[in-house]
Amino acid sequence: MFWLLLYVVVVDALVASFEVIASNQHLLAVRGRPAVLGCEFTPDSDLSNLVVTWQRQEDSRVVHSFYYQQDQLDRQCPKYRNRTSLNVSELYKGNASLRIAAIRPKDAGWYLCIVTNTKGTGRVSMQVTYGALYSEPRLSIHVNSSALKVQFETEGFPKPEVIWLGEHNRNLSYHLEIYGQTEDGLYFVKSICEAQKPMLNVTFILKNPLLNQHLQRQVFLNYDTTDHVIIALVALSVVCILLIIGIIWLAVQKQNKHRSSL
Ligand SMILES: *[C@@H]1O[C@H](CO)[C@@H](O)[C@H](O)[C@H]1NC(C)=O
Ligand SMILES: *[C@@H]1O[C@H](CO)[C@@H](O)[C@H](O)[C@H]1NC(C)=O
Ligand SMILES: *[C@@H]1O[C@H](CO)[C@@H](O)[C@H](O)[C@H]1NC(C)=O
Ligand SMILES: *[C@@H]1O[C@H](CO)[C@@H](O)[C@H](O)[C@H]1NC(C)=O
Repeated sequence: MFWLLLYVVVVDALVASFEVIASNQHLLAVRGRPAVLGCEFTPDSDLSNLVVTWQRQEDSRVVHSFYYQQDQLDRQCPKYRNRTSLNVSELYKGNASLRIAAIRPKDAGWYLCIVTNTKGTGRVSMQVTYGALYSEPRLSIHVNSSALKVQFETEGFPKPEVIWLGEHNRNLSYHLEIYGQTEDGLYFVKSICEAQKPMLNVTFILKNPLLNQHLQRQVFLNYDTTDHVIIALVALSVVCILLIIGIIWLAVQKQNKHRSSL
């Protein structure tokens, strides 16, 4: 009985002596930027028995592996080629963190960090979530006889929250179109606010809650139609005057010709 107890204690101690832990079980990765997936283990001064494998949990695709004291990338999934790195000097300290360069939409998902050395073997899983900052909104203004339309277009991920404010921070009604993810993994967002002529003072606000992004763009436009009417009237009068001068000139010319032929 005593021996059995001792055995259990010793086995427990051995198992507990080796650990693999994730520095962050939910990592937010931003499109185009690098991400570091943190994984730490109980170190062993000798790297010759160390095997580190990073895999996708969903389908066991190899993301990165290291053994015989070097990177082993023959079985690496092509999607990760030239984009992953482990820091060898950190491996001595029990840090198997993986750096992935230029995050893409398909990098989102679950990852496994599996480590084996002379002290034991273990694994940990972690989730990577993908987000993309919305690009600078492109403004366009459409004017027709009855309305003024202000439109902003931008791309990002995930779906944003949009509001339009008028004067005194009043909520305005608006039109919002969100087109499905492009192959870049971005939503194309188009929002239109219709305003009353002749003056326009609106603020477009777009939020990406996942990335804490808050874009705010104000549009102020004084579209004074009376100016245009005046310009049109002046232009019309100039044309009329020129026309009259032309007719008189032609008549005079004709009369001169008639006189000289006599
Ligand atoms: C990876 O880098 C090597 C050498 O720089 C290059 O020949 C290869 O085409 C790259 N592979 C990909 C998928 O970018
Ligand atoms: C582990 O290494 C990565 C670089 O590979 C570094 O960014 C991170 O800070 C290191 N973690 C610890 C706990 O030292
Ligand atoms: C436009 O509206 C904002 C918010 O109500 C206000 O602060 C600003 O003074 C207005 N601008 C003009 C030019 O009226
Ligand atoms: C304006 O709309 C936003 C979002 O729909 C809402 O949170 C806010 O309370 C509204 N503000 C007013 C003054 O109605």
